Amino acid sequence: MMKLISLTELLMAISRALDAMHPALHAHQARTCLIACRLGLKLGLPAQELRQLFCAALLHDIGAIGLKTRLDLLEFEEVDAYQHAFMGAALVEKSEFLKDTAPIIAYHHIVWDDGAGKMYQGQAVPELSHLIHLSDRIEVHCHGDNVLARAQTIRQTIASESGRTFKPEYVQAFLALSSHDIFWFELAENNLDALLVDLIPDVQMSVSLDALEGFAEFLSLVVDSRSRFTARHSSGVACAAKFLAEKMKLSVDEIQEIEIAGFLHDIGKLAIPVELLEKAAPLTPDERALMKSHVYKTYQILSKVHGLASITQIAAMHHERGLGDGYPFGMDAHTLSLSQKIMAVADVFTALAEDRPYRAQMVKAQVLNVIEQEAQSQALDPAVCACVAQHHDELRAAVVQAQQRSEAQLDAFWAYSR
Ligand SMILES: [Fe+2]
Ligand SMILES: [Fe+2]
Ligand SMILES: [Fe+2]
Repeated sequence: MMKLISLTELLMAISRALDAMHPALHAHQARTCLIACRLGLKLGLPAQELRQLFCAALLHDIGAIGLKTRLDLLEFEEVDAYQHAFMGAALVEKSEFLKDTAPIIAYHHIVWDDGAGKMYQGQAVPELSHLIHLSDRIEVHCHGDNVLARAQTIRQTIASESGRTFKPEYVQAFLALSSHDIFWFELAENNLDALLVDLIPDVQMSVSLDALEGFAEFLSLVVDSRSRFTARHSSGVACAAKFLAEKMKLSVDEIQEIEIAGFLHDIGKLAIPVELLEKAAPLTPDERALMKSHVYKTYQILSKVHGLASITQIAAMHHERGLGDGYPFGMDAHTLSLSQKIMAVADVFTALAEDRPYRAQMVKAQVLNVIEQEAQSQALDPAVCACVAQHHDELRAAVVQAQQRSEAQLDAFWAYSR
């Protein structure tokens, strides 16, 4: 189906969700992106490089998403700066759209070292890595109130590192730009998304639904890579949802939408702490409330993206139940569409068939037992549940296969984690 989806908005929404993992991070990536793009424009970079810079800066810390120590992000210069950078590169490598940003992200903490930083272990370090490195450090200095009052100190600190840590030409561009108050006021701006979109119109990238499928699969890897317990979940749900939609004779377009929604349904979990995702003990009321918020966050993230409305409606309703006692919207069997009902069943089925921190995966009889109870109580749609029972073995085999494939995709990523 041809339907244009704004990739820029999607990237910004993802970046925002990653930044939301901890208040201390503020909008670290978005703000680093703003600084980097301002510098890039000042330096007169060509449009193609600006696009790369925009994407790489917006997601430069994406590899830190599963690290328990990700708050050390701000101290990364002192701690091991390379692990999350290489993990990030291994992730974006999996996306057709972002592949070309992988080397930029991999080396975003390499110091200039009076030119020696053009290379790292025999590999060429992209110039844009150095530009992001500088932008990243400037951004960290900006944390806190009234940044304009500290502008001179920040300028002096950065200038004193010219050559040793940062490429002198880039420091010069920064000093020129930051001599104007507008540079600092923009950094204090809350609505960064609007600023970013206006900044580089060339960077607006729209994709068709077909192309989005690949990108959604990539995003599911990102979500799943956060914890070994949720690893593979999204790809399993996408597969189960697609399978059930086919068996229930939905249209080709609906099947494609439901699969993409499956990949994206838990994207709100990007904003849930890893510790919570992996907690084996029962959750406290506070933790449960936070956990429940993931589906609202999925809604928040996806609903900001033009062209994604119907996919958002499927993805964000996977915890709604037939009697209206699901969450967060309290929809019921009369208001939920068949696609939404399928998504709920696909999510439950996949979860039952997976190991969780608090229980092992269920065997066929247990799975069917739970599904039947859910159907009887009208929590899940009886017709969709009957479809699961009828095709259980085929469905489970398909889900396992999809999950193995996505796990293999993450091998390079895991290799850097320790
Ligand atoms: Fe970083
Ligand atoms: Fe960073
Ligand atoms: Fe969920």
